[in-house]
Amino acid sequence: MARFLAPLLLAAASVHSQFIHNQLPVGSSFGVPNENATYDYVVVGGGTAGSVVAARLAQDGRFSVAVVEAGGFYELENGNRSVIPGYDFYSSGPTLAGVNPLIDWEFMTTPQAGGKNISIHYTRGRCLGGSSARNYMVYQRPTVGTMQRWADVVGDQSWTWENVLPYYKQSSTLTPPNTKLRMANTTTYYDASVFGKGPLQVGYSNYIAPFATWVNLGWKQAGDTIRTQGMQSGELLGHSILPSSLDAQSQERSSAQTSYINLAMKATQLTIYTHALAKRILFDSTKTATGVVVETRGLPFTISARREVILSAGAFNSPQLLMVSGVGPAATLQKYHIPVVRNAPGVGQNMEDNPFFAVNVAADLPTGSSYQNNPALFAQAIADYNSDRTGYLTSAGADIISFQKLSNRSELGISAHAKQALSWLPDDWPEAMFWSFAVWIGASFGSLPPDARNYGGIVGSITAPLSRGWVTINSSDTADLPIINPNMLTDPTDQEVAVATVRRIRDLLATDAMKAIAPEGEVFPGPNVTSFEDILSAIQGQYFTFAHASVTNKMGLSNDRMAVVDSKARVFGVNSLRVVDISAFPFLPPGQPQATVYMMGEKIADDILHGESGTSGHESQSMSS
Ligand SMILES: Cc1cc2nc3c(=O)[nH]c(=O)nc-3n(C[C@H](O)[C@H](O)[C@H](O)COP(=O)(O)OP(=O)(O)OC[C@H]3O[C@@H](n4cnc5c(N)ncnc54)[C@H](O)[C@@H]3O)c2cc1C
Ligand SMILES: *[C@@H]1O[C@H](CO)[C@@H](O)[C@H](O)[C@H]1NC(C)=O
Ligand SMILES: *[C@@H]1O[C@H](CO)[C@@H](O)[C@H](O)[C@H]1NC(C)=O
Ligand SMILES: *[C@@H]1O[C@H](CO)[C@@H](O)[C@H](O)[C@H]1NC(C)=O
Ligand SMILES: *[C@@H]1O[C@H](CO)[C@@H](O)[C@H](O)[C@H]1NC(C)=O
Ligand SMILES: *[C@@H]1O[C@H](CO)[C@@H](O)[C@H](O)[C@H]1NC(C)=O
Ligand SMILES: *[C@@H]1O[C@H](CO)[C@@H](O)[C@H](O)[C@H]1NC(C)=O
Ligand SMILES: *[C@@H]1O[C@H](CO)[C@@H](O)[C@H](O)[C@H]1NC(C)=O
Repeated sequence: MARFLAPLLLAAASVHSQFIHNQLPVGSSFGVPNENATYDYVVVGGGTAGSVVAARLAQDGRFSVAVVEAGGFYELENGNRSVIPGYDFYSSGPTLAGVNPLIDWEFMTTPQAGGKNISIHYTRGRCLGGSSARNYMVYQRPTVGTMQRWADVVGDQSWTWENVLPYYKQSSTLTPPNTKLRMANTTTYYDASVFGKGPLQVGYSNYIAPFATWVNLGWKQAGDTIRTQGMQSGELLGHSILPSSLDAQSQERSSAQTSYINLAMKATQLTIYTHALAKRILFDSTKTATGVVVETRGLPFTISARREVILSAGAFNSPQLLMVSGVGPAATLQKYHIPVVRNAPGVGQNMEDNPFFAVNVAADLPTGSSYQNNPALFAQAIADYNSDRTGYLTSAGADIISFQKLSNRSELGISAHAKQALSWLPDDWPEAMFWSFAVWIGASFGSLPPDARNYGGIVGSITAPLSRGWVTINSSDTADLPIINPNMLTDPTDQEVAVATVRRIRDLLATDAMKAIAPEGEVFPGPNVTSFEDILSAIQGQYFTFAHASVTNKMGLSNDRMAVVDSKARVFGVNSLRVVDISAFPFLPPGQPQATVYMMGEKIADDILHGESGTSGHESQSMSS
C-alpha cells in the first residue's frame, strides 16, 4: 500500500481514475488540483454513502462525477490501524488522547446532561471511506417492521423491506465462515440468499473470543432465542454471531473506499479531490445548487455541477454545510450573518444515537485483558496475523449480539408510562442491544483494568431511544467545528430501558454457562449497585456512544416542517441538491446502521440514474411554508 499515492501525503490532489491501471498510479495523474472544473455531479464527502453514490453514478458511463473529500487515504495516513480488525478501537475512545487528526475530525461534544456533564470525543472518519474506515465493523440490517415504518413516515412505499432488499443485496457480498480456522464449538447461522455480488465484503473473522462462546450459551439459558437467519433477513429478536465489513480472504477491513472507490478508480471516469474541504454550496437566483466552494491548503476554488450537488458529509458536517450555505434555521443563520436561502428549521435537529454502557466480569479465559497484560501474547497475535491472517487480531471485537424486547418482562420493572412511550414500536423492533465484548470497560471506555485478571464484558444499548440531540454551527466557516450535543439518556423512558438492560445482563451473568467462566460474578458496576438510581448513576458515569449519530437532516413529508429532505433525498425548497448519508434517515433503525447507509446510497443513485429530477416533488408546498 505504501507505494500507493505516496505523493499525495501532503499535497491535495485530484485523482483521475482513467489514469489508474491495476490500481497503480501513473505519475501524471497526481499533483495540481483541477481548479474551477465542471462536472455533471459533484459529491461532497467521500465517506460511506458518498462513495456508493459517486461510484454508481460514474459507473453508468453517461456522466462526469467528482468527489470532494476533506481527508485522504487512511491506509497511508493511519498505517494498519484502520485496516486490521483487532485495532478498530484505537483512537475512537471518549477522549482525544492518541487520536490521529489526519483521519479524525476531533469532534468533542458539549457537556452531556444525561452523562454527568461529561464531554466526549465523537469519532468520525476524515478520509475516503469516512466512518466506514473507523467503525467497529458489525454488519447487520434492520427489520421488516422498521422499514415499513420508514416507508410510512416518508410517504413512499419504495422504502419497504421488500423494496429495499435488492439494494442491500447489490451493495454486498457474503463469504461464509472459514470453519477450518474458526473454533468449531459455536454454530454460525447465515442466510446467503439475502446477499448479492456487491462491492462491500461481508465476512467472518478467523477468531471468536472464547468468552463469546459462553455468552452464546448463556443467552440460551437465559431464555433468549437463537436468531437462525443471522440478522440480515429482516428479523433481529434473539442472539446470533454476526459478520463484519471484512474481506474474508485478507482478513482486512472492507470500507466504502476499498470497495466502492477502488472499484470506481479501476473502471470509471470518477475524479476524486482529496484533502479538499468543502466550504459552501453555491446557489443561483432560482435557488438551484450550481457548485461547491472548496479549499485546499488555503487555496479556494470552485467545482461546478451541471446536474446536481450531492451532500454526503455525514451526520455533523452535512447539516453544517447546509447551514453555512444558507439552508437551516433562519435565526441561526442570521446570528452568523449568513444570507438565508431557505428557512429550514429541521437542519441539525432530531439527532438520534445509541448510548454505550457495560457490565464487567473477571473470567477464567483469555480475553482482551490477557493481550493487554501480556506483551508476549500480544506479540504472538501480531505474528499470527502477519503470517497467515489468523488469531486475535482478525476479530473486530463484537462477536455475538442479542436484540431483545424488555418492556414486556415484568420482572425488569419498566413503568406503565415508559411502556406507553414505547407502544409505537413495531413488534419486531427491539428495545435493547447486548454485545459480548471480551475487554475491560469499567468506569470509562478505554480505562485500564484494575489488576491483571482477564476481564470480559457485556455492552448494552437502547435501540429505540426517545432522547433527541442537535448539531449547530459555531461560525459561518466549515473550518470551525460544529457544536454537537447528542443529549442521550435524558428522556426518562430511555433511562428506564437502560437500567432494565443492565438488569437483563445480570440475568445472563446468573446462568450456569456464565458462572462456569466467571464464578466471581460482576466486578463493575458491582453487586452492591442495585437500586434504580445507583444503576443509572453508573451508566451515566460511563457515558459513551456507539457513534450512530443520525437524522440531523430528517427525511419526511413536505408538510412536516422539521423534515429537510423528501423520500428521494432532495432538499425541500431548493433545486438540484440532495443529502445522501445517515443525516437523511427519517429515524435511527435498531442496531448498527452501516448496512442501511450503503443501501441508501445504492437506492438514491438508482433514483438519480432513473431520471428522478433534482427538484423535490413538493416544491410549491414547501416553498410556501
Ligand atoms: C467508532 C465508530 C464505530 C461504529 N461502529 C459501527 C458498527 O460496528 N457497525 C455499523 O453498522 N456502524 C457503525 N458505526 C456507524 C457507521 O460507521 C456510520 O453511521 C456510517 O459510516 C456513516 O456514514 P455517512 O456516509 O453518513 O458518513 P461518513 O462515512 O462519516 O462520511 C462523511 C464523509 O464526508 C467527509 N466530509 C465531511 N465534511 C466535509 C467537508 N466539509 N468537505 C469535504 N469532505 C467532508 C468526511 O471526511 C467523511 O469522509 C460506527 C461509527 C463509528 C465512528
Ligand atoms: C479559479 O477561480 C478562482 C476564483 O474565481 C480564481 O481566483 C482562480 O484563479 C481560478 N483558477 C483557475 C486555475 O482558473
Ligand atoms: C451540569 O452542569 C449544569 C450547568 O452548568 C449544572 O446546573 C448541573 O448541576 C451540572 N450537573 C452535574 C451532574 O454536575
Ligand atoms: C469453545 O472452544 C474454545 C477453544 O477451545 C474454548 O476456549 C471455549 O471454552 C469453548 N466454549 C464452550 C462454550 O465450550
Ligand atoms: C502493523 O504495522 C506495524 C507498524 O508498521 C507493524 O509493526 C506490524 O507488524 C503491522 N501488523 C500488525 C499485525 O500489527
Ligand atoms: C416480548 O415481546 C416480544 C415481541 O413481541 C416477544 O418475542 C417476546 O416473547 C415477549 N417476551 C415476553 C417475556 O413476553
Ligand atoms: C465556538 O467558538 C468559540 C469562539 O471562537 C470558541 O471559544 C468555542 O470553544 C467554540 N465552541 C465549540 C463547541 O467549538
Ligand atoms: C459499591 O462498592 C464499591 C466498592 O466497595 C464502592 O466503591 C461503591 O461506592 C459502592 N456503590 C454503591 C452504590 O454502594
